[in-house]
Amino acid sequence: SVTAVTALATGVILLYRGATVSTVGTTEFRNELAVPPLAESSVDADGTRNFDLTMQQGSTEFLPGRQTPTWGFNGTYLGPTLRAERGERVKVRVRNTLGEASTVHWHGMHLPAPMDGGPHQMVPAGGTWAPHWTVDQPAATLWYHPHPHGATEDHVRRGLAGMFLLDDERSGRLPLPKRYGVDDLPVIVQDVAFDGKEFDFEHRALRDVGFLGDRTMVNGTLDPYREVRDERVRLRLLNASTARVHAFGFDDDRGFSLVATDGGLLSSAVTKKRLQLSPGERAEIVVRMEPGERTVLRSLPLDAGLNFWSKRFSGGDDSFDVLQLRAAETLRPSPALPDRLGEPEVPDGSDSVRERHFRLQLPLINGRTMDMNRIDTTVTRSTAETWVIRSEDGTPHNFHVHDVQFRILSVNGRRPPPELRGPKDTVFVAPNATVRIALRFDGPADPETPYMYHCHLLYHEDRGMMGQFVVVEPGQRAGRPPHGDGH
Ligand code: C2O
Ligand code: CU
Repeated sequence: SVTAVTALATGVILLYRGATVSTVGTTEFRNELAVPPLAESSVDADGTRNFDLTMQQGSTEFLPGRQTPTWGFNGTYLGPTLRAERGERVKVRVRNTLGEASTVHWHGMHLPAPMDGGPHQMVPAGGTWAPHWTVDQPAATLWYHPHPHGATEDHVRRGLAGMFLLDDERSGRLPLPKRYGVDDLPVIVQDVAFDGKEFDFEHRALRDVGFLGDRTMVNGTLDPYREVRDERVRLRLLNASTARVHAFGFDDDRGFSLVATDGGLLSSAVTKKRLQLSPGERAEIVVRMEPGERTVLRSLPLDAGLNFWSKRFSGGDDSFDVLQLRAAETLRPSPALPDRLGEPEVPDGSDSVRERHFRLQLPLINGRTMDMNRIDTTVTRSTAETWVIRSEDGTPHNFHVHDVQFRILSVNGRRPPPELRGPKDTVFVAPNATVRIALRFDGPADPETPYMYHCHLLYHEDRGMMGQFVVVEPGQRAGRPPHGDGH
């Protein structure tokens, strides 16, 4: 029986090995990195900045000579980068030509619930939607993507995603690399798989985690390289994969400066060699290059907090070459990083008026799946709360809250590491981990229109790991949510 046990163990290990994917060290970086264009906008007499986004179907050549059916905004894959200043009023005219209903959610944006683009703001096939709001939050790297209940994973992995950059007066003055597409680059990372010319969405679609691809793309480019002509380059990293957690680092193990998390700049830069982002999370890093050198950004096996089976179910031992940086023989000098960066505007938990608990057990949050007609949580405008999130099913999850940026108070009772101390809207929740966060709800109150909180592993979200909260005035009660049929 010792032999049987050994054989069984070996079998399991082989099976496990067989399932591990690696592209590390084998990539020929043939394709120049695409950079999404900045979205055009026009400014009205009243100062409103207007954008147009059209959701459309098409096809994209990722593989030489082969057209893959894809979806995109104003193009065939991904979308343009929207950019606005704090204090500006923005309006986005969204047209849906997909042939099916969808939505556009502004992930990380503080805005009135009817403008949020969650599952209650469906844009019918052939329809339009024109949300508008005033940008009132610090400079940050946000993003946008569809959020139709039950179909978010499908719409995002077909290609519907883009960045939304916010600037403010302070960020404009800081000596950080900030020339878009020159020394300040969006890095939208997605894992993908192909079956012939088509995307293969069934590939390693593990029962408890959702889609995991066997290679990665950046900004829709496979095997990308990027020429660098400046001594310092700022990478705005977005994990736009639907389920995969990426742990980024460089092949030569160089350190880099982390300058911003989901909701904006840290108070000061932190030097890191590894940085983990779960789906939906962002980080801005500044990388320093020497003339003529090359380095490869990789997605490496996860180290922290994942046991054997959780790793298997999150692709946690996989590794990928993500993006090669090639420094020119002469580099323009970049200013040194400033000592002080931003002034994060997140509560510290000291004025929380209540504590709430969220138990994550696929597909449940606190024992229930998402119901469009049920308000799960009612919070009071202008108050702060502490939320305690716990993964109880041995599966990796994360937790995203709409409308707010929060502060992570602790992870498993300990002070969070530096990369989790900045403003956040999404946090990884490892199996059996407990994460405490402090949030403030600055309103406007709207007792009828809910915001969402959910797991951002999109397959989990689609299966119902999502809840609804409304912001009310003191003493007010939650109303009945409008039926989510897009009217
Ligand atoms: Cu990025 Cu509710 O989502
Ligand atoms: Cu989950």
